[in-house]
Amino acid sequence: MNNCGISRWDNPREINRKLSHLTSLPIYEVTDEYYEDTILKYYDEKCAGSRKIYEEAKQYIPGGVQHNLAFNKPFPVCFDRAEGAYLYDRDGNRYIDFLQAGGPTILGSNYPAIRDAAIGLLNTCGPVTGLLHEAELMIARKIHQCMPNVEMFRMLGSGTESVMAALRISRIATGHKRIIKIGGGYHGWSDQMVYGLKIPGSRNLMESHGIPRKLFAYVDEVRPNDLNMLENFLRINRLRGGTAAVIVEPVGPESGTRPVARDYNQGIRRLCDMYGALLVFDEVVTGFRVALGGAQEYFDVVPDLTCFGKIVAGGFPGAGGVGGKKEYAGLMAAGVGTMKHKAYVGGTLAANPLSALAGYTAICEIEKTNACEKAGRAGDRLTDGLRKLIEQYSLPFVAYNQGSIVHLECTGAMSYDYSSYFIGKSAVGLLLNKDIMIARKESMERMGAAYMANGIVTLAGSRLYTSLADTDEVIDDALDRFEEVFRHVARTNKGVRK
Ligand SMILES: Cc1ncc(COP(=O)(O)O)c(C=O)c1O
Repeated sequence: MNNCGISRWDNPREINRKLSHLTSLPIYEVTDEYYEDTILKYYDEKCAGSRKIYEEAKQYIPGGVQHNLAFNKPFPVCFDRAEGAYLYDRDGNRYIDFLQAGGPTILGSNYPAIRDAAIGLLNTCGPVTGLLHEAELMIARKIHQCMPNVEMFRMLGSGTESVMAALRISRIATGHKRIIKIGGGYHGWSDQMVYGLKIPGSRNLMESHGIPRKLFAYVDEVRPNDLNMLENFLRINRLRGGTAAVIVEPVGPESGTRPVARDYNQGIRRLCDMYGALLVFDEVVTGFRVALGGAQEYFDVVPDLTCFGKIVAGGFPGAGGVGGKKEYAGLMAAGVGTMKHKAYVGGTLAANPLSALAGYTAICEIEKTNACEKAGRAGDRLTDGLRKLIEQYSLPFVAYNQGSIVHLECTGAMSYDYSSYFIGKSAVGLLLNKDIMIARKESMERMGAAYMANGIVTLAGSRLYTSLADTDEVIDDALDRFEEVFRHVARTNKGVRK
């Protein structure tokens, strides 16, 4: 396989064993002394410009930031400039960017060829006309070339919309009603997909405020890595509306935070075929990242529908789309006044020429530069270096990666499932483990703040995306910075049952 971003596949049992050991221990985090004297001091002294903007933004923006990934602790840093592996804040401080806007910028930030293509287009037709532009064809044809089973592609506004469309198509194509998702998976924030969000077993119990229960009536959730449970649901569903689709993040729920067995996706494919359900691969993160042909190429599994996002618009807005075999993708046919049996999808700015051209250019550049493989190698180097530091400082932290998707779990906040939410019954009701989970999440943010003050931007303190711009020098510099943080970590008495 050319341009493959994953050079090794860790045994999920081993990772999960380490993660449960981590969560059985009290929290290890940077000491209060280091946090107060060094981290908070950095924010106070070096980030005055960011603080000023944030203070005013709180008056006009709910929570003071528009984006869930804009890290809030102790306050969000405001970024003015992005280039390659680096971000620069309002006060001129430089950071290594392992957030990568949540995944789209595998070529590095503000990649010149994409910028030039966008500027050229703005100078000629502007960002949008609402009519056919050749860039729409260019990106659809290019995606087909990279993922042959994506015979047709329709570009949409976001990953969330792509998933909504894929589920709608699946229901039309199969005549079945039910959707099965893997517990803990993230497929955007549409009503149905909030079911089981982030925490396996949580069904409609955690993040579903504002969503009537009935909207979850046709969604089921199964435990990651459990093909028997999946088969049981598929079997039961035959008697209650049939399964339209099984939707998966192929590297594991929450971008591989909960790792799965290498042959898991093949098992799901087999079961979908047995029970007449479509297999939907959510490749919003993995598409053009784990391989040019996506996770479907890496796992050698042909899904019926593929959801795209992030890299598909080369870091520009309007990053979404669904593709697949003609018989399914054709159900999204656009055009005025068609009363045919079809999946209604759309969006005023969907597939605008700017996003389509930026995405096309990005995919061509990823191919030309071998970016998946190089970013994956940077991910391996970062993971190996983190593992060495973890050992050197005798910490219980766990580092693992799927190529350029690197996970650094310092508190295990992301490894809980819903059964660990309750720890038993008492005379007054259920004993909640919630406080432990919250303490671990707060600690994860505190570690994130410590990384930030040492010049490293992470995704919420526990995920790191690497890119083509991450040379060995960049990674080694980052590891020195991680070491500086790890040197100040100590065991606390937090995060354990009282
Ligand atoms: C796997 C996956 N699917 C879907 C989405 C939703 O995409 P968007 O944020 O573009 O709506 C995300 C976003 O992070 C994602 O990681």
